[in-house]
Amino acid sequence: MAQSSFIIVAIDGGAASGKSSSSRTLSERFNLLHVDTGSYYRALTSELLRRGVAAADLPAVKTALAGLRLGTRVEGRSAQMEIDGRVAGDEIRSGEVNDHVSHFAAIPEMRAALLAYQRGQADVARIHGFRGLVMEGRDIGSVIFPQADFRFFLHADPAERARRRKNEGQQDSIVERDRLDSSRKASPLTVPAGATSIDTTFVTLDQVVEQMAGTIGLKLKS
Ligand code: DC
Repeated sequence: MAQSSFIIVAIDGGAASGKSSSSRTLSERFNLLHVDTGSYYRALTSELLRRGVAAADLPAVKTALAGLRLGTRVEGRSAQMEIDGRVAGDEIRSGEVNDHVSHFAAIPEMRAALLAYQRGQADVARIHGFRGLVMEGRDIGSVIFPQADFRFFLHADPAERARRRKNEGQQDSIVERDRLDSSRKASPLTVPAGATSIDTTFVTLDQVVEQMAGTIGLKLKS
């Protein structure tokens, strides 16, 4: 692969598996735009809840989604979703959003509304002069960018993941969210074909990043 070519790194995994920390560090190491697609599902969930829309009310979900104007703001190396010109704040990590996000994310229309938008983040990265894109989520290597140059799948023991969320001060039923995310019909959480699987239970963030960066760096040089 040529040194100057644009690269796409896909990082998938369950809640609190280490995706955000590792992808943020990789974005700095390789000058990539960091896209946290979980924050996109969270921002839309938060907005729909704010409008009083329930996940079970499909016509209301569709009408509300059709009326939203989505944009992207790049802050540092991170892409943020704008909904009607506004970037959501900490409310997307609230207990209420944690409880509802998997239900909204299981709706095919919700996923369809985000498909082209997520793929378009590669253009955002190019326009802003990044060397590539590192995108984290549940279906990045399987559905959004199945042709990604690098695909990683992170997993960790549920007790360790619960401990991480608690340390972040978050109230989150990660096992239940993983169950919903893995069992839904539309783009379930799955290990993408050809992905490198990494167990992050007993290793430090640095070790995870070193393993990923080693794989990426080696290929970039060859
Ligand atoms: O990564 P996170 O825990 O912030 O993601 C929040 C929820 O969003 C997660 O429970 C499922 C959904 N999600 C998804 O369905 N597909 C993605 N690519 C990213 C997140």
